[in-house]
Order: sequence, then structure tokens, then C-alpha cells
Amino acid sequence: MKDIISHKVQNMQPSGIRAFFDLVLGMKDVISLGVGEPDFATPWSIRETGIFSLENGYTTYTSNKGLYKLRLQISRFLKNHYKLEYDPEEEILITVGVSEGLDLAARALLNPQDKVIIPQPSYVSYGPVVSLCGGIPKYIYTKQSNGFKVTSELLKAAIDKKTKAVVLNYPSNPTGASYTKKELEALKKVILQNNLICISDEIYDDLTYDFSHTPFAVLPGAKKNTVYLNGFSKGYAMTGWRIAYACGPRQIIAAMTKIHQYTMLCAPTVSQFAACEALQSGRRALEHMKKEYKRRRDFVVDGLNNLGLSCLKPDGAFYAFASVKDTGMTSLDFAKKLLDKEKVAVVPGTAFGKNGNEFIRISYACDIEKLKEALSRVGSFISSAKK
Ligand SMILES: Cc1ncc(COP(=O)(O)O)c(C=O)c1O
Repeated sequence: MKDIISHKVQNMQPSGIRAFFDLVLGMKDVISLGVGEPDFATPWSIRETGIFSLENGYTTYTSNKGLYKLRLQISRFLKNHYKLEYDPEEEILITVGVSEGLDLAARALLNPQDKVIIPQPSYVSYGPVVSLCGGIPKYIYTKQSNGFKVTSELLKAAIDKKTKAVVLNYPSNPTGASYTKKELEALKKVILQNNLICISDEIYDDLTYDFSHTPFAVLPGAKKNTVYLNGFSKGYAMTGWRIAYACGPRQIIAAMTKIHQYTMLCAPTVSQFAACEALQSGRRALEHMKKEYKRRRDFVVDGLNNLGLSCLKPDGAFYAFASVKDTGMTSLDFAKKLLDKEKVAVVPGTAFGKNGNEFIRISYACDIEKLKEALSRVGSFISSAKK
């Protein structure tokens, strides 16, 4: 029985977020700032459309690629919103979350030993997904002093003959960092010069607070080298519906569809109907939620900096990534002790890469009253730790 599990899976570390939140389970009165999902319920018109689709008996599979109606709406939305053009027949695939889109992209693109550049701190899935496909994650490390942004120099230095792709995620989980068009142009130059594929996870695009989001694929010449991943989980508060989409060159989307048809068949039908409604009537609710996140962001970031936990203002998403360096504690120590003493759960930055060791991630997808109470408890914790 010793060798029953695949070696790749044996070697895979469980998610640092999960490991930490196993500690939280069973504790009472904990304020959790750990979860990476909206605290809002899905807007009612979207839920209602899902319910109607069930009432109308739409309970079968859809086409593998997803409902044509949804692909068409996505294609129109991207064109109107970003001037980004994708053919709904051949360049858009409906997936089970961006999570599936990522997995499909990696499986469709990678041969054994192909390298994928992953800037860290990063979302927890990228490295394991690449490794499961036999690829090699090549981590590069961004710094707080540089806004946690990848630069063309960092990127260039990481590329070698085996490099096949780069994962970009902006606005970023966990740092909230995003890029202006000019910054993206500089990265694009390196990516195209080296004929790499950019797997661009833009799931938080709608939650960009201070400037307009630029999809990587809209940059001149970039589309042919880009797999654009986006979905409904974050902006429309639809995490549990498991619905997203991947767009890209037809050759890549065809390859991803081939894998998807054997492994997933199609995304949930009820969620596809609901997603159509999200694009139709969900934008108002989205703007309302975004306004609230922005108010919380400003509150939390000021609060953390006032407590001496240096924190940049995130450009987007709903996370604050604050330094605990001046407390003399590591991120894991800080998070464990804060949980133990003040019952506030935050995620240690090491869950997002080794350069996260000085940081904690705080999700502000949480009621502002709870955030106030949590910050006051963090304040008490820091004061007592100094004594
Ligand atoms: C950066 C990023 N990408 C992808 C996902 C997964 O999204 P989905 O719910 O669409 O699978 C998450 C979820 O936290 C995320 O933060």
C-alpha cells in the first residue's frame, strides 16, 4: 500500500490557507478575515434566473463549450467593455470556475519539464497546477518596495529555453497590485520577444478601484499569445455557482475544450443561465459592491498603517497585504498568536510564497463593523506583544 498515491500528489503541499483554517474550525467567536470570497449573496435577479431555469426544466447538459447564448453575451460584453474581440464559436470556452480554466490551460500547453514563470506572492493554485501537468513552476519574487509588481527585468532574468508560459494575475490575490497599460506594455514586450504564452488570470478585473483595468489580450499583438481567464465568482459574488470562461486563440481553446469534454463535459447548466443574467442586469449590483469594498479598503489600510503594520493601498481585489516585520514575528507566528490571543483569523503570507514571510493577508470582504472590531483586537495584540 505504500506507493498507492501518485508521486506528484505525494510531493504536493496542502494549501497553506486550508492548513491554517483547520485551526480556526471549532473555535468560537473568531472574526475571520481569511476567506477569499465576497460576503454578499449573489444579486437577486441572478439567483432568480437560476431558479427559473430549474423551474423550466433546463436540467440537462449543455454543449461542451457552454451555452451559445452565454458565449455570445461574453463576446459582446468584452467587445463593449474592453474592445476585446473573441469569436463565441471558437475562441470562448465556459469553464467550472477560473480554477478549471487554469488547469485546462496548463494541461493544454505544457509538455513535461516545460517551465512556467509564476510571480509570487501568488494565488495558491498556480504552482501545484503546473506541477500536476509535469511542468516546472519558476517562481520570481516581487517586493513591497516595488508595489509587488513584476518588472520586465525580473521577467527577462527568469526566462530560459524551457520557458513556455507566464502566469499574470492582476489585480492580485493576495497583494491587490495591478498594472497600468504602460506597465503591461513593458511586460508584453518581453513575453512576445520570447514567444511565451501569457496565462492572464483577471478574475478581479471588475474590482479595480483607482484606474481602468486593461486586459492583457487587448494590448496590440498580445491576443495571439494570451489565454484570458475570467469569471463570475468575485465581481458578481457567485463563488458557489462555479462559473467562468476562458478566451484565447482557437487552437488553444480547441485543445482546452478537448480536455474539458472528457473531464467535465460542461459547466453547470443552472449557473450558465444565471451568468447570462449577471451580464444582463448584474452590473448595477456589482458597482454597488465595488463601492463598498473600496470604502472598506481605505478604512482597513489606514487602520493597519496606524497600527504600524505597513500596508500599500491595493489597486484592486479585496485583500490587504500588510507587513508584520516590525513586530519581530514571522507571518505564521503572528497569525497563530493573533488567533490564539485575540480570536482574529488572518492568512500568513507564507501561504502565497516564501517571500510572503513578512506579511499577513487580510480579506476585507467582510462587514465594516467586524473590520473595526478586528483592527481594535489587532491593536491590543500588538501592544501586549511589545510588553
Ligand atoms: C486569483 C484567483 N484566481 C482564481 C480563483 C478561483 O476562482 P474560481 O472561483 O473562478 O474558480 C481565485 C479564488 O480565490 C483567485 O483568487
